[in-house]
Amino acid sequence: MYKSKKILKLSGLCDKLIRVSDMKLLVIDGSLKDGGQCRSMTDMLCEGTSAEVFEIFKKNINPCTDCEGCRDTGRCVISDDMSLIYKAIERADIIAFTSPVYFSSLTGVMLNFLSRLQVYYLNRKSIGNIKKKKALLLLCGGGATKRLDIPRHQLELALRIINCELAGFEAFMKADEMRIEDDREFCERINKIKNDLKLLV
Ligand SMILES: Cc1cc2nc3c(=O)[nH]c(=O)nc-3n(C[C@H](O)[C@H](O)[C@H](O)COP(=O)(O)O)c2cc1C
Repeated sequence: MYKSKKILKLSGLCDKLIRVSDMKLLVIDGSLKDGGQCRSMTDMLCEGTSAEVFEIFKKNINPCTDCEGCRDTGRCVISDDMSLIYKAIERADIIAFTSPVYFSSLTGVMLNFLSRLQVYYLNRKSIGNIKKKKALLLLCGGGATKRLDIPRHQLELALRIINCELAGFEAFMKADEMRIEDDREFCERINKIKNDLKLLV
């Protein structure tokens, strides 16, 4: 078993594999900046867990073009890094989405990513529902946004497609004032989610 600080980079598989265990926590990080607040939030969530993390901005992920090519095969016809992530989605029990708030929305890269779940929607009759799972949404923002229901609703629409129910939601909206690690109350809320969902190994 790997120590939590030891982050194993597996190029081509996922960006980080933090400890190896049976836990099926998948983290989709929709931020664009190394060293940013969202990446810290992702690290905070993953610490002490076994998580497969995809920093999707660093992946080659194209948006769904609604070509409906997947109707013939049940598979998306776009050849890119999503093929790895589809497999990770299917085996996950819990999927956490971490994202900065951009214009009261999830980031563009996150929306591009979510659009690729359309393959499950168009083929829902032939492939049936994929394994039931839970989701978490963790947002960070500078504070300008009062409508956090917008990104939450965006995600919930996509979650329906993959038989996933939102089980936890937190937002750190002081990103322009302080580092997320210094907000003790927020850190405690993340730890509570980790305990409630039994994410710690
Ligand atoms: C293009 C852009 C749009 C943003 N829009 C919002 C917004 O609508 N509401 C908000 O609270 N913060 C907004 N922010 C601030 C970011 O959410 C905040 O700086 C966050 O910490 C960025 O995450 P990062 O540090 O991981 O990059 C925006 C930032 C950028 C770059």
